[in-house]
Amino acid sequence: MRVGFLQYNVAFGEPEANRQRVSDLIGDAQFDLLVLPELCFSGYYMPSREATFRLAESFETGKSFEFVKGISKRHDGAVVFGFPELSRDKVYNSAALVLPDGKCHLYRKTHLFNLEKHWFDPGDSGFSIHEFRGTRIGLMICFDWRFPESARTLMLKGADIICHPSNLVLPSCQDAMVTRCLENGVFAITCNRWGADRQDEEEIRFTGRSQITSSRGEVLARAGVEEDAIVIVEIEPLRARDKSVNALNDMVSDRKEEFYFK
Ligand code: ACM
Repeated sequence: MRVGFLQYNVAFGEPEANRQRVSDLIGDAQFDLLVLPELCFSGYYMPSREATFRLAESFETGKSFEFVKGISKRHDGAVVFGFPELSRDKVYNSAALVLPDGKCHLYRKTHLFNLEKHWFDPGDSGFSIHEFRGTRIGLMICFDWRFPESARTLMLKGADIICHPSNLVLPSCQDAMVTRCLENGVFAITCNRWGADRQDEEEIRFTGRSQITSSRGEVLARAGVEEDAIVIVEIEPLRARDKSVNALNDMVSDRKEEFYFK
């Protein structure tokens, strides 16, 4: 399976320009699964909750969905992307998995980071798995990495690959994802953005270094800190179904749930 990420510098509040940028960068790339960053057309640093509402789109029917469905169909591959989701009087930091037949699956960020608690409502979707081309795909968003329960829950629900749209600002996630993959025996595609968002005098800078990590914790690909990059690698996702560590240890059947804190 050909899986990859598209890292770029998102222009805040310019969704049309960002969609054009994505279109240009994808070119004629061939993939089965491509991950874009968190909030990848709107930008990240919201001046207010009202501004978040103004940039938000409805799941499945928003303008970005029309665009991403077109990419998914043309390239005959699934696309994961992050967007501010408008749902009645609520706005979520969400991600969607869009399939070539137009079917869409939704995830709402569980662990909001810092000021996101002012801009968004807490995600209420929980973690779920979606099958595509015989592979089980799970979604989490950026700061979810800091809670090992996110990846662990996705693994226990059967994920082979975790798609992880991000706008990372802390330095440790890429290294932590090696551990998340190793301890769960899953692949992960962390797609970060690069550059900065500014509001008045304040700036938030993003760390780039998007990464594809194998189910054995190997870094298969990593982008630079400040570069546009579309990187696609071939993986065997079903390797994630083998949870053995050696002949006598298995990451799932060796778990001792009775001793774990609930
Ligand atoms: C983050 O969760 N976007 C830092």
